[in-house]
Amino acid sequence: MPEKEPIGVIGTGYVGLVQGTCLAELGHEVWCRDIVPDKIDALNRGEVPIYEPGLAELIERNRERLHFTTDMGEVAANAELLFCCVDTPPTYSGDADLSRVERVVEELGGLGRHALVMKSTVPVGTGRTIKRDHDGLGYVSNPEFLKEGSAVHDFMHPDRVVVGADGDSSDYGDRVAALYEPLGAPIVRTDVASAEMVKLASNAFLATKISFINEIANVSEELGADVTEVARGMGLDSRIGDRFLQAGIGYGGSCFPKDVQALKQLAGNTGYHFQLLTAVIEVNELQKRRTIGKLQKHLGSLVRKEIALLGVAFKPDTDDIREATSLVLAGRLRGEGARVRVYDPVAAERARDVLSYAEICPSAMKALEGADAAVLVTEWPEFRELDWAGAVKEAMRQPVVIDGRNFLDRDALRAAGFTYEGVGR
Ligand code: UDX
Repeated sequence: MPEKEPIGVIGTGYVGLVQGTCLAELGHEVWCRDIVPDKIDALNRGEVPIYEPGLAELIERNRERLHFTTDMGEVAANAELLFCCVDTPPTYSGDADLSRVERVVEELGGLGRHALVMKSTVPVGTGRTIKRDHDGLGYVSNPEFLKEGSAVHDFMHPDRVVVGADGDSSDYGDRVAALYEPLGAPIVRTDVASAEMVKLASNAFLATKISFINEIANVSEELGADVTEVARGMGLDSRIGDRFLQAGIGYGGSCFPKDVQALKQLAGNTGYHFQLLTAVIEVNELQKRRTIGKLQKHLGSLVRKEIALLGVAFKPDTDDIREATSLVLAGRLRGEGARVRVYDPVAAERARDVLSYAEICPSAMKALEGADAAVLVTEWPEFRELDWAGAVKEAMRQPVVIDGRNFLDRDALRAAGFTYEGVGR
């Protein structure tokens, strides 16, 4: 084996592209494969199909060691460890759709000796089934914990790395663990099923933390407490920790909604009713809709009211709109008869199809001009920099601001004459 093991990456989405590029940065020769020729062509031209801070620079710096191809045979011929980074979207039943993973496994048949290293989030038990059905294929579970927007940083500075391998794949587990040794993080070695569960349980726990603080926020609104103060007081308890305690208008993204649902479903399939997760999901759904009530409190009927949504992406620093709160909110507003305008510094174009009924604005100021209310949906820094007391106040028809992320300067806005409402304060 050469000193730096050659690596294959299957699927060049957020996860695969970051995984491949960061391993190249660690000195590995990496073959990345995607079935979409346009994506591979773009990558070969030096274009990065997604927006992820630092990624484009890192790809550029490691061009020599990165190979992009649509040919599975080429990848399989060059690397024994193949990271599976294809997506596993939810199906109508709430189960994960494993068809892309299955296709990858099928394609590998007859291409020689390999280990599939599962990065994609899969139901607990998937590894066992794949191993049972595909004799000779090694299997390692190595879940990803990357946050969009800081994925490169998260890869290079992980809190922990989880590597699950059973029986005759243990050696492959050693080789996967060795890839991460330069990062200096704790490496947790487990069996495959436990590694699969670590991923789902971690995301479900974080989502629970968010739904919990959102309910504390809702009750705080009724009882006259300020959830940001409450979270500060709670967060300093080291058993609780201060992260993921920001109340807001609900979690979104490609992971939390899907993984919480998947774990609940997985439990349900065994006959176990995961009550807590049922509540976590329901709280999140209601949280997205609470904004409508707040708008009605200040504007009365929303029929023909012009509502500006600031932010479309499910969080800042990404152009990802999967399961974004903005989409539900826009839909509900439309249902109430409001006119919806949206602005997002990077994600607006992606939303054009799903938000065909909304006006996509080229700037925040354009969205705010003549608006009856503004709803801050995504905490993009530029929204804080707006001249609220001056130009914005002047431009809006009614100075009503619902701050869905407790992000703006409440006191300054109120002093400037805005009707300001945050979440839980
Ligand atoms: C998440 C996990 O953090 C990551 O470990 C996993 O691999 C994939 O899912 P990501 O989806 O990129 O990452 O987003 P994250 O930054 O975790 O935020 C998720 C959602 O929760 C966002 O909509 C965010 O606005 C919301 N959130 C987060 C809150 O509402 N309050 C918080 O305190 C934190």
